[in-house]
Amino acid sequence: MTRIVLVTGGTSGIGRAIAARFAADQAEVFITGRNPDTVDVAAKELGVHGVVCDATVTGQVAELAARLDEVDVLVNAAGGLSRPTGDGMTLDEVLALWHANLAQNLLTAVLTTASVKDRLTGGSSVVSIGSIGAERGGGSYGAAKAALGAWNASLSAELAPRNVTCNVISAGYIAGTNFFNGQLSDERHRELVEETHNKRPGTVDDIAQTAYFLASPGARHITGQTVHVNGGAFTTR
Ligand SMILES: NC(=O)c1ccc[n+]([C@@H]2O[C@H](COP(=O)([O-])OP(=O)(O)OC[C@H]3O[C@@H](n4cnc5c(N)ncnc54)[C@H](OP(=O)(O)O)[C@@H]3O)[C@@H](O)[C@H]2O)c1
Repeated sequence: MTRIVLVTGGTSGIGRAIAARFAADQAEVFITGRNPDTVDVAAKELGVHGVVCDATVTGQVAELAARLDEVDVLVNAAGGLSRPTGDGMTLDEVLALWHANLAQNLLTAVLTTASVKDRLTGGSSVVSIGSIGAERGGGSYGAAKAALGAWNASLSAELAPRNVTCNVISAGYIAGTNFFNGQLSDERHRELVEETHNKRPGTVDDIAQTAYFLASPGARHITGQTVHVNGGAFTTR
């Protein structure tokens, strides 16, 4: 049976690789992003449906959901890093920074999931992309990703009786995405690689294969979890 797969933030980086992985499995894949040109190009290149949708805007999320009769796999990959503007930020700047990171990294997943919750089929999966930043004191970004894990635990308890699994993939440093917006120095890259046990950056495919597994029949008893994919840069014991 052809699975219906929705990947938010599927135009670039991790989300795009996840969309490609499911498309290679003959799934019917929908990708989203905020930029119409990027959505169009990525959808054509991947051979999937592209939908322009800012996952922080309720009206756009509702319109996206209305296009889908059912969903077998939801991947909440939309996210990104808003950085502090510098020392001595005003309270309004602090508030804006926190709102931005919470909206982009937590509310994107919360709103999209709420919009398609009734369309999730028995045996379906929700996978949300978290970050090692949640373990590392990553400021408002890390706090948003930590909250994603807490929200996921309650979502899992709510949906497991319907045979829906819900998990977070907490990604370590992943090279080859637009996440750092070209601002990652060579020195910082070396530091992040040095933290790993296997001395390499993660790839988008590392995350795509994990997402594919979490949505596979072999993973039906895995739910409510945060799965760390980081080459050993953070270990849970
Ligand atoms: N790269 C890393 O090292 C790393 C590590 C840990 C976790 N992560 C997480 O992995 C996820 C994917 O990031 P990435 O590294 O693949 O970065 P990326 O290449 O910048 O991809 C981000 C994707 O999300 C979309 N997006 C952002 N905000 C959105 C919104 N409000 N509504 C809809 N789409 C939105 C972007 O498209 P538009 O900008 O056109 O909307 C793009 O498709 C994020 O949640 C990020 O926090 C990344």
